[in-house]
Amino acid sequence: MSIIIIAPDRDVSAWVKEIRQYTSERVAVWPDFGKPEDVTLAILWKHPKGVLKQFSNLKLISSMGAGVDHVLEDEQLPNVPIMRIVDDALKNGMSNYIIAAVQYYHRKLDIYEQLQTSCIWRQDISPIRKLSIGIMGLGKLGQDVAKKLVNLNFIVAGYSKSRKVINHVKSYAGKENLDEFLAQTNLLICLLPLTSETENILNYALFKKMPKGAFVINVARGKHLVEDDLITALDENILAGAFLDVFRNEPLPENHPFWRHPKIKITPHIASVTNIKAAVPLIMDNYQHIDNHESFSGLVDKKQQY
Ligand code: NDP
Ligand code: OXD
Repeated sequence: MSIIIIAPDRDVSAWVKEIRQYTSERVAVWPDFGKPEDVTLAILWKHPKGVLKQFSNLKLISSMGAGVDHVLEDEQLPNVPIMRIVDDALKNGMSNYIIAAVQYYHRKLDIYEQLQTSCIWRQDISPIRKLSIGIMGLGKLGQDVAKKLVNLNFIVAGYSKSRKVINHVKSYAGKENLDEFLAQTNLLICLLPLTSETENILNYALFKKMPKGAFVINVARGKHLVEDDLITALDENILAGAFLDVFRNEPLPENHPFWRHPKIKITPHIASVTNIKAAVPLIMDNYQHIDNHESFSGLVDKKQQY
């Protein structure tokens, strides 16, 4: 039995070190592994598609993060359980990032940043913008940030497939309620998983359904957003600003128009980075109990794609 980590773009030495605390099994790093039939656990981040089919005794696949779109893109996946990582560290990281982005708009820091470029000292009588926050995706991460934003006295609503009951959070469920959700949202946060239903969901038509001059924060996946539509909506003042952590092409190419757009803020996919010390015990616990079907954290519903 052996474990393989397949994450060609990453330095995974800290993962190897941490996994070794939990097992004496061989921990291999792609592309170096022994006999393919020995591999029983695969830990992945953007693996080369098709490589897993050679592992005939694979028992478990784990994403190195919360999202599994990069795993499910592989059309030749062995039929074994797939898990993802969600723990308190990941939730806290995401919530703190989103709160920072929300406060950036709430306290009009976007305006003061622009004024500073011309050395202009202009105090605004009202130091805040009134925000009505709408979170698309009220899952593990969405619910955590929804509760924290409520505690900060923001008006918060959420949109998901199934209705949620969260104190002071208005829950909208299903496509038939999306327009109503958007009509009352002037700061939209995308925390949806990337699936065939959610790809390109952040588009011009959707932006038009929000009050004029709304803000968008995308921390989910680049493919949720139609990039040209964002630029058009910002240039036509349909949207007033966008805070983006994820992109269709990462790293974002140097000549990409987002970099220099005055209404776009960019961070390089760091909203919430997996904490290895928190993630590895979750993976190893699932792996070590996979044969007796005990509790399984982070199990992905392959049909739903998240
Ligand atoms: P979850 O799977 O816990 O939650 C997903 C939510 O989206 C659920 O509320 C679900 O509804 C809802 N949803 C799914 N499909 C639809 C749809 N078609 N229409 C409406 N609602 C839908 O995911 P997490 O909260 O753990 O993570 C969300 C995403 O955040 C990840 O998939 C990943 O892409 C991204 N992420 C980004 C990071 C970064 O650093 N930028 C870090 C970590 C994650 P229901 O509850 O009814 O099932
Ligand atoms: C994740 C991510 O899915 O980092 O965890 O995007």
